[in-house]
Amino acid sequence: MKTYRITNLDTPVSRIALGCMRLGGSWGDVPVTADDRKRAVAAVAAALENGINFFDHADIYMRGKSEEVFAGALKELGVRRDQVVLQSKCGIRFAGSPSPESPGRYDFSYEHITASVEGILWRLDTEYLDILLLHRPDPLVEPDEVARAFDELYRAGKVRAFGVSNHTGPQIALLQASLDQTLVVNQVELSPLHSFLIDDGVLADQREAIYANASGTLDYCRLHGIRVQAWSPVAHGVLSNPPDDAPANVRTAATLVTQLAAENETTTDAIVLAWLLRHPAGIQPVIGTTNPLRIADSCLADDVVLSREEWYRLFIAARGGPLP
Ligand SMILES: NC(=O)c1ccc[n+]([C@@H]2O[C@H](COP(=O)([O-])OP(=O)(O)OC[C@H]3O[C@@H](n4cnc5c(N)ncnc54)[C@H](OP(=O)(O)O)[C@@H]3O)[C@@H](O)[C@H]2O)c1
Repeated sequence: MKTYRITNLDTPVSRIALGCMRLGGSWGDVPVTADDRKRAVAAVAAALENGINFFDHADIYMRGKSEEVFAGALKELGVRRDQVVLQSKCGIRFAGSPSPESPGRYDFSYEHITASVEGILWRLDTEYLDILLLHRPDPLVEPDEVARAFDELYRAGKVRAFGVSNHTGPQIALLQASLDQTLVVNQVELSPLHSFLIDDGVLADQREAIYANASGTLDYCRLHGIRVQAWSPVAHGVLSNPPDDAPANVRTAATLVTQLAAENETTTDAIVLAWLLRHPAGIQPVIGTTNPLRIADSCLADDVVLSREEWYRLFIAARGGPLP
């Protein structure tokens, strides 16, 4: 697997990352089963065998169980800490905590960030995180407070690099102005079926631009050396296995994906991921499958380079309309 560099990290990272949200059983209050643990070991083993060294987490995934079973899987597979790059996120709080009327919300307070990292390190059974991301923009963010939390975590050796998720360029700039640490990652939803950040640039000054409104986020990240990571990069597999009631654009794009997979002698998931890898921002797809065969199928994307024509055909088919 070819690699990318991420600012402030010594270890080169695989161009494709494994997202660990679906490890750990269920989102409910149900304990992890032996089967969940077995599935996690198989998924992590498949990722490592196919060249993935980068694993994405969040404190909330399956209410912490994803991080826990992942740590167990690394232990069972005998993986050393320095063989993997671990990223997690904080800043989202579930409804009902601390009081029953507390809503689901975002929290970038010093207390919440520092306490969340303690929990993450404990569940991942590690002394440090390679990267900590702030999960979703908090409208009540006080950048100086984030700066104090990041400083403390960095100085204590608990977090080596910092980033954000689902943030626009201006939101990153606002935070960065107060931070001593450079923000090195922005993780966003991006796939041929969810291409608003790319549409944003294409549609500027068009009537439809009002729907994109992504504030030049991709260009901002490129300009500032911020690694863009794509979550839900295969849009849950619907371009490989479209449901019977799929809208016309999904069916057309899925047919094209099948055709491109045959022409490039690869898999459909690999074509969808190759579409992201072809973008010059240097996008790192964070795949969410836990199926070892699909993990292997996805990693074939590393060998596929779509032509400009192929890239645009899929872009246009998936967005369901021609370019301006
Ligand atoms: N930052 C954020 O706000 C945010 C939000 C959501 C997710 N994430 C991160 O992004 C990662 C990936 O997200 P995701 O899981 O939504 O992404 P995804 O890779 O687009 O979707 C994975 C899902 O699609 C299914 N799938 C994949 N290929 C398929 C195919 N060919 N046919 C049928 N089904 C297929 C998988 O099922 P199988 O497991 O059965 O293969 C799995 O349920 C997460 O693990 C998490 O780390 C971040």
